[in-house]
Amino acid sequence: MAEFDVEVVFTVALKAVKDAGEIIKEAFYKKKAVLTKSCAVDLVTETDQAVEKMLIGRIKENFPNHMFIGEESVAAGEKCDLTDEPTWIVDPVDGTMNFVHSFPHSCISLAVLYHKDIHIGIIYNPILDQMFTAKLGQGAFLNDKPIRASEETELGKSLVIAEFGTNRDLQKMESVLKNITALMNKVHGLRAMGSAALNMASVASGGADCYFEYGIHVWDIAAGTLIVREAGGVCIDTEGGPLDLMSRRMICASSEKLALQIIPLLTQLKLERD
Ligand code: IPD
Ligand code: CA
Ligand code: CA
Ligand code: CA
Repeated sequence: MAEFDVEVVFTVALKAVKDAGEIIKEAFYKKKAVLTKSCAVDLVTETDQAVEKMLIGRIKENFPNHMFIGEESVAAGEKCDLTDEPTWIVDPVDGTMNFVHSFPHSCISLAVLYHKDIHIGIIYNPILDQMFTAKLGQGAFLNDKPIRASEETELGKSLVIAEFGTNRDLQKMESVLKNITALMNKVHGLRAMGSAALNMASVASGGADCYFEYGIHVWDIAAGTLIVREAGGVCIDTEGGPLDLMSRRMICASSEKLALQIIPLLTQLKLERD
């Protein structure tokens, strides 16, 4: 079993994320060469790949025994297995569609797990210079200041974030719209901002009260899960019950009471993939 000192790992992770932020900032307002993956709206750019490559390099250099799960590495055929070893989970650019359009709502999302527990979560929007961090049991922070999820428990007073996802299959789009229609006249406001990690950071810092999505991946939600929980919020399965990070569905909220009011309104299939 590899050594795991959370403070040492956090220091390296934070520096790596800040450096990754420089790569994103440098490219942000330039024209990007865009490639597609599973479909026409599932995008990847040179920046996604460059950030992931840099982060893998940092991990290998500092912690040669640590494991790594990264969105673009998995897309290139790497395995997506979560073991008990220290494992870095990376989304190099979360909100690639926003990044491509220079819509300033993209971030780096990085989590470090050990024995499958999330010990470190970092989400960084370099354009707005917002650095969200959490260490297990030590609270959640935005630019070093403590953050808390909202106190809201009433659905009618809640700002809820949903996402449309990247699947353009008719049936999938209909089920996404059914959820949105079911919620629309019951919530205070509905939003779709295009970054799972920043959605979770918004719940953690009290700007939104709830966010849910089907079809998300472990790299979209691992860091956000720790940050939301350390800020006093909850992250659970969309059926209620404990969250499985690999299950590709999640709801997070300022309180379980609020999440449990939303869950019965969601009709998207439990195991539906994007
Ligand atoms: C996507 C974003 C988006 C969410 C998708 C994710 P990416 O991540 O987080 O908000 O709706 O499910 O795949 O591809 O931009 O890293
Ligand atoms: Ca992607
Ligand atoms: Ca993502
Ligand atoms: Ca990504």
